[in-house]
Amino acid sequence: MLRSYKGKSPRLAQGVYIDESSVLVGDIEVGEDSSVWPLVAARGDVNYIKIGKRTNVQDGSVLHLTRKSASVPDGYPLIIGDDVTVGHKVMLHGCKLGNRILVGMGAIIMDNVTVGDDVIIGGGALVPPNKNLESGFLYVGSPVKQARPLTEQELQFLKVSAQNYVELKDEYLEES
Ligand SMILES: CC(C)(COP(=O)(O)OP(=O)(O)OC[C@H]1O[C@@H](n2cnc3c(N)ncnc32)[C@H](O)[C@@H]1OP(=O)(O)O)[C@@H](O)C(=O)NCCC(=O)NCCS
Repeated sequence: MLRSYKGKSPRLAQGVYIDESSVLVGDIEVGEDSSVWPLVAARGDVNYIKIGKRTNVQDGSVLHLTRKSASVPDGYPLIIGDDVTVGHKVMLHGCKLGNRILVGMGAIIMDNVTVGDDVIIGGGALVPPNKNLESGFLYVGSPVKQARPLTEQELQFLKVSAQNYVELKDEYLEES
């Protein structure tokens, strides 16, 4: 499940849980207490992937990036912050997510998108290339639109969701 590519292998911090059915290839860093659930495909081959602390990437999600080129000298790596919940079957491609974000099930986030801290992206949303999603808002739809500011309850929920997954992955680690 952990494979090297061109001499680079996934690096896992303390307390990380990687389901054995997921595949992580190449230049990938996974921060403390994060978790990667069944059937995730993460390919750090033509650029790199960085996942922060206490972040969960749920079942069937696909993580990839864009190579360096003359028009985009750094390409687009994939950077995910701390306490992020990436729902089931999400596609993250060459984008940058801040901290305390929920990416709803089946959402697609494309190249060079930046998502601020404390954001919820609704299930099934499409975030087209180069969009900048402002901190503190709910975004829904395809293409995505800003719906409304998050409530205090939702802001709290973002932390609870991440913590729930930290506890769940600890149980899975005990089983393995
Ligand atoms: C968007 C979301 C956060 C709900 O937001 P909300 O403002 O409480 O939404 P409501 O249920 O009050 O619905 C408000 C409207 O938005 C619509 N809506 C709800 N979720 C939507 C979504 N994901 N995309 C588009 N429209 C959505 C509703 O149909 C409703 O439309 P209407 O007013 O025309 O009837 C929620 O539906 C969602 O997508 N959560 C993601 C959950 C998830 O995937 N978790 C990860 C796995 S654990």
